[in-house]
Amino acid sequence: MESGKYIIVTGGAGFIGSHTVVSLLESGYSPIIIDDFRNSKKFILDRLEEITGKSIVSFDFDCSNQEKLREVFSTYEVHGIIHFAADKAVGESVLKPLKYYENNLQSLVSMLKISEEFSVTKFVFSSSCTVYGEPDQVPVDENAPIKYTASPYGYTKQVCERICADTAYASDHLRITLLRYFNPIGAHPSGLIGELPLGVPNNLVPFVTQTAIGIRQELTVFGDDYPTTDGTCIRDYIHVCDLADAHVRALESNSDEEVSIYNVGTGVGSTVLEVVNTFEEVNGVKVKHKIGPRREGDAAQVYADNKKITEALHWKAKYTLSDALKHAWNWQKNLDESR
Ligand SMILES: NC(=O)c1ccc[n+]([C@@H]2O[C@H](COP(=O)([O-])OP(=O)(O)OC[C@H]3O[C@@H](n4cnc5c(N)ncnc54)[C@H](O)[C@@H]3O)[C@@H](O)[C@H]2O)c1
Repeated sequence: MESGKYIIVTGGAGFIGSHTVVSLLESGYSPIIIDDFRNSKKFILDRLEEITGKSIVSFDFDCSNQEKLREVFSTYEVHGIIHFAADKAVGESVLKPLKYYENNLQSLVSMLKISEEFSVTKFVFSSSCTVYGEPDQVPVDENAPIKYTASPYGYTKQVCERICADTAYASDHLRITLLRYFNPIGAHPSGLIGELPLGVPNNLVPFVTQTAIGIRQELTVFGDDYPTTDGTCIRDYIHVCDLADAHVRALESNSDEEVSIYNVGTGVGSTVLEVVNTFEEVNGVKVKHKIGPRREGDAAQVYADNKKITEALHWKAKYTLSDALKHAWNWQKNLDESR
């Protein structure tokens, strides 16, 4: 059995997972990626080696596969698990709910079963602020009620949180951290890794960068009659490298709690038009956009109260919205050139 600070990173070739692999290597851990590349590309593995100068250990299989997991866990002495692997497109989840229930639930159950079998103590789960639905007040803290969420995707996060909690309370060794991400954006400052939407992007920033570079004709801003400063929705945009760092902090926490829950957001809300205008300003490019009708299910404003993670894990966002939008544009330009 190979010993070392091995961390299993499911979905480690994806957007947030790949940045977390960089943070783990920089912090002295040995990440092991398990990803079947259903929503990512293999060239990301080469890019990770280019950024870190280290060789990347990775396995190409569906992490619901217990037999294959057992082979990996029998080879490496696993110190912790970060479970990113899931399907994440809100709109698609409405059209194909079973795809989401199957993958998001099965992959989690499978990772928890293997944790129990190999007595892994640290488990970090990718949750989302979507579990709050439309919060009664902002900033929203971790004690806010879990409310009805319109999409099957959002519901999988609520159920997965419950599955994690039930498992941790029943276990005598497992400690689970649920990280509720707000809106991850940006890319690694090197421009070598970033968000890689396959098909039409679901999130604002990739849509903005693709419109700026000419892949998309025009961005539609969904509604400008919300009760916010300029009428467009407010979200808490967090640089993906800051988010990655939160995972390392979660692994290093010595908390005795079976389940720890943290919001991971900057604590600052920005409107859609602020994002578009800032992007144009910092990058000196235009983003053609128009105002469209509201999109069903969009909350007017959601941003984080991040006191808990700041105090307990000493985590703080280092990057600004401008940094994130510069890095996102840098990544988009590199990607376009390397096509
Ligand atoms: N990006 C966001 O806006 C956001 C916000 C909140 C929460 N999250 C959650 O964070 C996690 C990571 O999101 P992301 O943006 O990096 O997504 P992503 O699609 O870029 O990465 C997910 C990775 O997991 C892989 N994968 C999916 N199912 C798998 C399986 N069964 N076995 C092996 N690999 C599998 C995909 O190939 C992909 O590489 C997800 O759980 C997502 O729900 C994302």
